[in-house]
Amino acid sequence: MPETDAPLTYGPNEDVVDLLLAQHAQIEQLFLLVIGGTGETRRDAFDDLVKLLAAHETAEEEVVHPLARTLPGGGGDAMVDDRLDEERQAKETLKTLVAGGVDADGFETGIILLRDAVLMHARHEERYEFPRLRQFVPAERLRSLATAVRAAEASAPTRPHPGAQSAKGNLAAGPVLAVIDRVRDAVRKPSES
Ligand SMILES: [Fe+2]
Ligand SMILES: [Fe+2]
Repeated sequence: MPETDAPLTYGPNEDVVDLLLAQHAQIEQLFLLVIGGTGETRRDAFDDLVKLLAAHETAEEEVVHPLARTLPGGGGDAMVDDRLDEERQAKETLKTLVAGGVDADGFETGIILLRDAVLMHARHEERYEFPRLRQFVPAERLRSLATAVRAAEASAPTRPHPGAQSAKGNLAAGPVLAVIDRVRDAVRKPSES
């Protein structure tokens, strides 16, 4: 089957690296919308950002980093530990921002710090981790992982239902954790077979 050289392909040839790269770009866009936006626009963009970030980082934690640990060369374990630390810190900051909501004092500062940390983290993955996946993991496996990650993320709610809002009208921390749990459960199933 002919391979395409396009960096972002969708459909049967999309592999998990394509998918994660596309999500990095989407995450960056959403940060721009949150930081540049006000009122409802900012609130909606922040909700979308929280969902995507939670799902994306959880899928990486469950699928990509464990796989990267098994690959030869490149100080795999230390590299993966660094990525996991970055993700843990980002999730903590994210939870704090979610709990306070977009109108809280300190949201402005917090969201900029989070953006800088998340984008730096994404660059590290792109530089140190993704190339090794492409080098050492069979293309077929990378494609099936894309399918697994997409299915897992599709199982997570994309918009909060009214009961999921906090008193301030913002997305509550509970549903964010639920997204993480559901993505985790969904990605574990296919990898166990
Ligand atoms: Fe990550
Ligand atoms: Fe990532």
